[in-house]
Amino acid sequence: MIRRMATESRDAAHPIPRFPAGFLWGVSTSAHQIEGAVDEREPSVWDAFTAEPGRVKDGSTAAVACDHYHRYGEDVALLAGLGVDAYRFSVSWPRVRFGDGSGLDFYDRLVDELCAAGVRPVPTLFHWDLPAGLDWLDRDTAARFADHVARVADRLGDRVGKWITLNEPAEHTLLGHALGVHAPGRKLLFDALPVAHHQLLAHGLAVRALRAAGATDIGIANSHGPVWPASREPADLEAAAFYDLLLNRLFAEPLLLGRYPEGLGELMPGDVESDLKVIAEPVDWYGVNYYAPTKVGAPQGTEIEFGGVVMPAELPFSVRQIEGRPVTDFGWPVVPEGLTEVLTTFHERYGDRLPPVVITENGCSYEGLDDQDRIAYLDGHLRALHRAVEAGVDVRGYFVWSLLDNFEWAEGYARRFGLVHVDFEDPAALTRTPKASYAWFRDMLRSQR
Ligand code: BGC
Repeated sequence: MIRRMATESRDAAHPIPRFPAGFLWGVSTSAHQIEGAVDEREPSVWDAFTAEPGRVKDGSTAAVACDHYHRYGEDVALLAGLGVDAYRFSVSWPRVRFGDGSGLDFYDRLVDELCAAGVRPVPTLFHWDLPAGLDWLDRDTAARFADHVARVADRLGDRVGKWITLNEPAEHTLLGHALGVHAPGRKLLFDALPVAHHQLLAHGLAVRALRAAGATDIGIANSHGPVWPASREPADLEAAAFYDLLLNRLFAEPLLLGRYPEGLGELMPGDVESDLKVIAEPVDWYGVNYYAPTKVGAPQGTEIEFGGVVMPAELPFSVRQIEGRPVTDFGWPVVPEGLTEVLTTFHERYGDRLPPVVITENGCSYEGLDDQDRIAYLDGHLRALHRAVEAGVDVRGYFVWSLLDNFEWAEGYARRFGLVHVDFEDPAALTRTPKASYAWFRDMLRSQR
């Protein structure tokens, strides 16, 4: 059931500046966070993780989530009502592997429905829900991923033009394998580096598999943000540079420059030089997920909890609070100019090696249907994005995270990122109610046409 709009959008006194012609406007989701229908797919590492007490803060699971698997028609209607050009969703690898083939049938139906509604499907081929039994510490997982990609491309490639290989290999490495706060819950710290390498290799193999299937519009969704040193003291500058290496350069440079930054290659497994040739397969565009900058200083010798993540004392940096900014319900600072900064920094760092950029995620968690804070966040970030365009960055698209309130990983249902509210209190109905931000984004899109 879709309820009436929460409130009409507020009067935009200062409209968002016009983006270049052909700019792609969309919203994003991911399979594990919305689909539910757990019995109609193979298990993933997230099922095992959420089953362990204490892993998910509210004790919830994604077994039903938004039940998008059964309610996708309603959700496509919401996309059509919003007027987006494109919808970024992820294809669940555990569902595609499901014995009776019904998993691929589901994506087939979804893609048909999107095309019929005039919304371009933009699938992400991996968004953290690794099939149970597979492991990114194993090199073979990269080859298995390429098989998965080939299978999906073979089935959907006649209607899907734009593809995303992986979502945020940085977060999946850091949160899932180094710090253990996401599935599969490993705390390997720097021994998690092979997970980064194998995902990057998987990306390169996926690009090759997609090209072999005739795809011409391929990107990745990497998470990036400015890293601000806590002070100008050498120890803080050094710690911030190291964090920048881990968050930004480790995942951008193998792809864009064909090399690992500053000796990291020596820490990676296998024949790294020949793997880098695969990893650096050219992409057609580069996806950036941006939420906030990170302020980083020298280690403080104690464990620190930040944004819901416990950082062990032995890390060679410490994350600090950015003061004087509004924060989202997640406690993340709202810093729109960080989006301009990260894009202009990448433009300066990588020059012609940086392909056109698409913002594949940007958004915030706030409660409530009259979500003026989300409107202010999106408004500020779109203006900041436009400043990056004016500064010469070739930006071709922007996707809001997220269409729907959903299963926010280790936070469960406590964080609401949606333009559309989902009533998780009533699991039989899971009523969708567009928030004020839905109307605002819809009107903003109309003003861009
Ligand atoms: C992820 C999403 C997540 C969002 C908000 C991104 O890191 O790709 O799956 O829900 O951030 O935390």
